[in-house]
Order: sequence, then C-alpha cells, then structure tokens
Amino acid sequence: MEILAFGVQADEKPLIEQAFRDRYAVRCLDVFLNEDTAPIAAGHEVVSSSVNADLGAGVLEILAAGGTRMVAQRSTGFNNIDLTTAERLGMTVARVSYYSPYSVAEFAWALAMAVNRRIVRASTRTRDFDFRLQGLMGRDMHGRTAGVLGTGKIGEAFARIARGFGMRLLGWDIAENPACTELGMRYVPKDRLLAESDLITLHVPLMPETRHLIDAGALKAMRDDAILVNSSRGGLIDTAALVGELRAGRFTGVGLDVYEAEAGLFFLDKSLEAVEDDTLARLVTFPNVLVTSHQAYYTEDAVGQIVDATVQNVVDYRAGRCSENVLVPRS
Ligand SMILES: NC(=O)c1ccc[n+]([C@@H]2O[C@H](COP(=O)([O-])OP(=O)(O)OC[C@H]3O[C@@H](n4cnc5c(N)ncnc54)[C@H](O)[C@@H]3O)[C@@H](O)[C@H]2O)c1
Repeated sequence: MEILAFGVQADEKPLIEQAFRDRYAVRCLDVFLNEDTAPIAAGHEVVSSSVNADLGAGVLEILAAGGTRMVAQRSTGFNNIDLTTAERLGMTVARVSYYSPYSVAEFAWALAMAVNRRIVRASTRTRDFDFRLQGLMGRDMHGRTAGVLGTGKIGEAFARIARGFGMRLLGWDIAENPACTELGMRYVPKDRLLAESDLITLHVPLMPETRHLIDAGALKAMRDDAILVNSSRGGLIDTAALVGELRAGRFTGVGLDVYEAEAGLFFLDKSLEAVEDDTLARLVTFPNVLVTSHQAYYTEDAVGQIVDATVQNVVDYRAGRCSENVLVPRS
C-alpha cells in the first residue's frame, strides 16, 4: 500500500520517509489537498493531509470516489475537515492529538518578546549600520500580567514560561486546568482578562463558538498598550477589526503566527505575485505587527512526533484499532 502525503514541506520530507520506511511506501507531494489536487489521490486508500488542506465536503467526495478510505491529518486542529461528510462517506479520519506543546508555547513567547523588544526592527537597523535606540524601547515582563485564553496543553506551557518571567497570571477557559491554578493563575471572565492583561495570548481551538473570539468589542476592551499574540488559529481574531484598531495607533505589539485567510498563502512563495489580500497587505505594514506563516509547531521535536503519530494512526486504522487520535472511526 502506498500512502499519499499532501502539503509536505522540504524539511519534513526526510522525516516522513524515514518514519514510514519498513511499514508502507509513501509518496510526498508539496501541493496542498484541495478540489484541484484531490484527483491525484485516486487509487490511494490512505492519504495524509496538512493543516491548510481543504477537507470540505467537495474534496472528501472526490477522495471517496477515488477509493480513499482514510485521512491521516498531520495536525492537532481539525477545523479544516468536514467530519460529518467524512462519516457519511464511511471515511476514517485521524489527527495528532498530542505533540510538543512547548513548540507552540515557546514560539508564542518568541513573538511576544520580538514585538515587545522590537527585535526585527533592531536587526534591520544594525544590518544597515544604524545603531540608534530611538523607537526600540520595550517593557519588562516581570511584574506584568499575562492573560491566557485557553489553558489546555499549550496555554499551560505558555503560563509556565510566564511564571519564569515573574508575571501575574489570568486565565479564561470553559474548564479550569488545575496545573495552571497551581502556578497561581486566577480564572476570570474574558472581559476582565482583556482589560487587565499587558500580554494576551490565544490558545483555544477554532470552532463556531470561538470564531472571532477577539472581535471589535474584545479589541476595545483591551488596554491601548497591550501585546496580543495569536499562535492558535487565525479565525479567532476579526482581522479587519484589528486593522481598524491598529490604524488608530493602539497596541504595543501584535504577533500573529496564524491568519484567518491564510489557506492558499501560508507555506507558499507568493513573493513574485500581485498581493490580492488587502487586509494582510495592510497588516504587515504596521511597525508594531509581526506576522509569521504558521510556523509555531515547526521544531524538529514536534514535527518528529507528528510524523510518528501519523504512522501509528495508519497502522491502527489498518489493524481496526481506535485510538484517542481518531475523529471518525472506521465503519
Ligand atoms: N500555530 C501552530 O503551529 C499550532 C500548532 C498546534 C496547535 N495550534 C492551535 O492551538 C490550539 C490549542 O492546542 P492545545 O494542544 O493547547 O489544545 P488543548 O485541547 O490542550 O487546549 C485547548 C483549551 O481550549 C479550551 N476550550 C475549548 N473550547 C473552548 C471554548 N469554547 N471557550 C473557551 N475555552 C475553550 C479547552 O477547555 C482547553 O483547555 C489548537 O486547537 C490549535 O488550533 C496551533
């Protein structure tokens, strides 16, 4: 059996080939799974997809018609997969429910500190032999307040680092995490967290109830000098509303590893094409905004764990076993 893996980055390919060796043949494609590319999967019982794949009803229908029976998604988030349609088509879907939460939490901190201490601007200046400090003043994190929206695995890892900085911790979640309470985190209503935090970081999954969690009202509730970091999913923020607040000169810094219209852009080289997305084009012009292309998970450790878990998901599917990674069980 040959597994067809879509959306494979060049760095990731040797890890995937190594992990599948001695188990199944694997063919890696750099194109992402969507309605145009899905026909390539014809004849493949198992396909593996990545975070920005479009696994809506249309794509799943094409895959099913071509004989695909299992989708092994190489991410934790699965907001891009129409699970109801997969179930109707009798298609097994598995994801990777656990891999290094440190990869994402540490990157969220990298974004927070980069915007706080103006690292990118400082680096650009020194490359130009401009050694002035004007405009580079940041703030100590020690003694300030970190607000963590979503205190699961990644939120907890972020909070531990915040504790290391000596920060006060506020949390918001539908379920309290005792490990966070032990760290000294105080759970408060969302509006209070937004109003009191110097640094706000998002770690809830994207689902209908969390879409635009940070909408125009939430942005208004934030302090003018707050730092906002999103390393979860772009759809958690109403980006047009954020641009409006940034135009008004608000916020010390905004670090975004994800963007609500990132599919079709992130992970690809668009540098020679006309920019069609006016919101993103405006966003990257603000001196206090840093945008990265969904790379928070991208460490050797995390990618290695994702790949190993994906192989195990395929082995389990073939053996008819159901693990915690299975979103739609084998029918
Ligand atoms: N940028 C990246 O590279 C990257 C990588 C991995 C994960 N992520 C994102 O990070 C998210 C969090 O990952 P995790 O491993 O910490 O997940 P997790 O399941 O451990 O934690 C999620 C937390 O969100 C809370 N939550 C769920 N629904 C909620 C709601 N409606 N309101 C308030 N809280 C709610 C849960 O109770 C839980 O505590 C993922 O869903 C994914 O979208 C991003």
